[in-house]
Amino acid sequence: MASVVPLGSLPAPHLFYWLGVAAVTWLSLKAACRLLSGARVFLFGAGVQVGEFGRWAVVTGATDGIGKAYAKELAKRGLSIVLISRSQEKLDQVAEEIREQFQVETRTITVDFGGGVEIYKVIEAGLAGLEIGVLVNNVGISYSYPEYFLDVPDLDDIINKMINVNVMSVCKSFPLFDLSLQSLKQLEVESNAMGDEFANMIKSSCMTYLPNYIEYGASAVNLPFRIGWMTRMVLPAMVNRSKGIILNVSSASALYPVPLLTLYSATKAFVDLFSQALHVEYQSKGIIVQSVLPFFVATKMSKIRKPTLAKPSPETYVKAALNTVGLQMQTNGYLPHAVMGWITTSLMPISVVIKQSMKMNQGLRARYFKRLKDKGD
Ligand SMILES: NC(=O)c1ccc[n+]([C@@H]2O[C@H](COP(=O)([O-])OP(=O)(O)OC[C@H]3O[C@@H](n4cnc5c(N)ncnc54)[C@H](OP(=O)(O)O)[C@@H]3O)[C@@H](O)[C@H]2O)c1
Repeated sequence: MASVVPLGSLPAPHLFYWLGVAAVTWLSLKAACRLLSGARVFLFGAGVQVGEFGRWAVVTGATDGIGKAYAKELAKRGLSIVLISRSQEKLDQVAEEIREQFQVETRTITVDFGGGVEIYKVIEAGLAGLEIGVLVNNVGISYSYPEYFLDVPDLDDIINKMINVNVMSVCKSFPLFDLSLQSLKQLEVESNAMGDEFANMIKSSCMTYLPNYIEYGASAVNLPFRIGWMTRMVLPAMVNRSKGIILNVSSASALYPVPLLTLYSATKAFVDLFSQALHVEYQSKGIIVQSVLPFFVATKMSKIRKPTLAKPSPETYVKAALNTVGLQMQTNGYLPHAVMGWITTSLMPISVVIKQSMKMNQGLRARYFKRLKDKGD
């Protein structure tokens, strides 16, 4: 008769048992580390003293929502503020509010980041001579409702605008060679007259791009010519002084692909990766670059009017986010958002998160069309 071997004495169950113990221990340790580091940042952390990095803070998209909240919170912490947005009237109003409330100096620069390269000259002139300690690259636009890529209203225009506003504004500065068709022709004349080797080299490289210019219009051909970078404009002086802070407002939709907000999510992923890599390059030179990834905040863009714990007011959000500067190079900025970030990136499989995002955005899209139908549009 065959003898029965007790299961527990087999090597295989032992192996699986210990593998299980190791996996659970590893996951528990990881969770504990994440919790401890979250507590260090959000419960006990105060971040760096932003006022020690320079006299001025520059905030793009500063007249509403998160940008306005950054401008006010930085003023509260002692910095003079340069406000950049499209509407002079709104800029004047916010500038006055800040001056009265916090007794700091303010300046305004009116530009449309969706526009052409000439805006960077205006910004450069407005910032000349200022000791800039903090740059907040906040300006950003999204779709007016979640939509399938090809059905986004005015798609061509939105592609250009979204890339100019969400991406170019973060890293671009003034163009070294700002070449309209007119200036290309002028350059040809000048370089011929000068017979200068350098000018001829520039001319021939410009002429290589001329056909693209005609085909795609100014914003496409500007790309190879815009040699400077908002960050490029401000970073050299920060590096010279060995201190500076650059806060780039990305979005939680950069953490994973967000269907029906495809272009938005992709532009924000650029901002996130750009910021993290830049931080590692420049931290030894005294520069802090932080990528800020909020979930929903109650602003005009999100169309959320009433703040809740999970969807805070911009003021609540920014106050918490500023306390993470110097403690996290990539942050969700606010404790409930950090918990949401942890759940969606560490606990849930990414395929599930993407599917859920698609479902949620399909729901929001359906609600948008229903509202339009109810209004009789
Ligand atoms: N709200 C959210 O739930 C949320 C979530 C994640 C990430 N974010 C990001 O947070 C940032 C701020 O969003 P928000 O919700 O605070 O937006 P918001 O309330 O719509 O405010 C946008 C600001 O940018 C300015 N602006 C818009 N387009 C501009 C342009 N083309 N050129 C110059 N200024 C322009 C607006 O002023 P004018 O109209 O006067 O120019 C306003 O001051 C964005 O980068 C957004 O992607 C927001």
